[in-house]
Amino acid sequence: ELGDYEHYMLKEIFEQPNALRNCLRGRAEQREGRIVLGGLADHARDLVKARRFILTGQGTAWHAALVGDYLMEDLAKVVTEATYASEFRYRNPIVEEGTVVVAISQSGETADTLAALREAKERGAMALGLINVVGSTIARETDAGIYLHAGPEIGVASTKAFTCQLAALTMLSVYVGRKKFMGQGQTQEVIDALCAVPDQLDVVLKTSEQVRDIAAKFVDRENWLFLGRGYHYPVALEGALKLKEISYIHAEGMPAAEIKHGPIALINDGMPVVFIATQGLQYDKVISNIEVVRARGGKIIAVATEGDTNIGRYSDDVIYIPHTIEPIQPLLSVVPLQLMAYHAAVLRGCNVDKPRNLAKSVTVE
Ligand code: F6R
Repeated sequence: ELGDYEHYMLKEIFEQPNALRNCLRGRAEQREGRIVLGGLADHARDLVKARRFILTGQGTAWHAALVGDYLMEDLAKVVTEATYASEFRYRNPIVEEGTVVVAISQSGETADTLAALREAKERGAMALGLINVVGSTIARETDAGIYLHAGPEIGVASTKAFTCQLAALTMLSVYVGRKKFMGQGQTQEVIDALCAVPDQLDVVLKTSEQVRDIAAKFVDRENWLFLGRGYHYPVALEGALKLKEISYIHAEGMPAAEIKHGPIALINDGMPVVFIATQGLQYDKVISNIEVVRARGGKIIAVATEGDTNIGRYSDDVIYIPHTIEPIQPLLSVVPLQLMAYHAAVLRGCNVDKPRNLAKSVTVE
């Protein structure tokens, strides 16, 4: 079943273009410029009237929720909150009328996520699921949802489920947004960008050997930082989680602006700092964050937009990804970070598909 791949994780990273094609098929209708979500059709009116969305999950699925928070507010213009399922459940949450809770989970069996979903339903919320495993417990307990269609994910580290979660959240945002304020022009722009992702991912995956060479340079360093702003802040968290989970290197991810408020004290000579520095609204701000880190001896690994001739002056290594609009960029920018974690773990001799202390799905709270 592994075919030519040495590990499931690598196979699943490379399956992402096709996983996304399956996730988008019949839903992101490029020619008609619309999103078709059969699973939500019966609830369309309630979704339009919804006053608040709560996106919830754990680990990588929570990172998808954080991107979803930006997507929903940016595109659907509806108040949205991303929250750890484990924290939501026990904080005596306020669930007003018109609240939709969206449970995000690859396995559909995560105990914390299931408990949060039940709590929200109990308090009157409508329950949606963005789930990969068909017929799983969470999927069965939701009112409606979008299956991810990522295919079976066997490696413990979640990869293709994450990018499909981002695609599903983008489709949900456009689906809701289009019924409210989004014009046809913007709708078409987002759908076109989303539909271009599978082919663009084929290009991103070609960086694998370059990423391995970069990983080899820094693999003996025990502390890494991952920094990004806006849509890339959750991607930074995800890059750090992947690295710590499978290579046992200590890594932290945070919004790039946060380093000035304390973590900059960590930076010492030669510390690898990964910046997601793609072109967009906050590009100049990211560059100034890079300069601050570099002045203190940090080694800059930048994920940047193809054709950016400026970034090389500020970075020790640059991994280029194709251009796309900002809401879609996380789908591309996360992939070099998945590859970085994979190669670092292999170089350190770690068991990539079965990292120590971890199971594929966490069924205790
Ligand atoms: C990280 C990872 C975990 C899961 C989390 C939620 O690579 O795999 O953080 O994302 O345990 O799992 P699901 O999505 O099955 O609810």
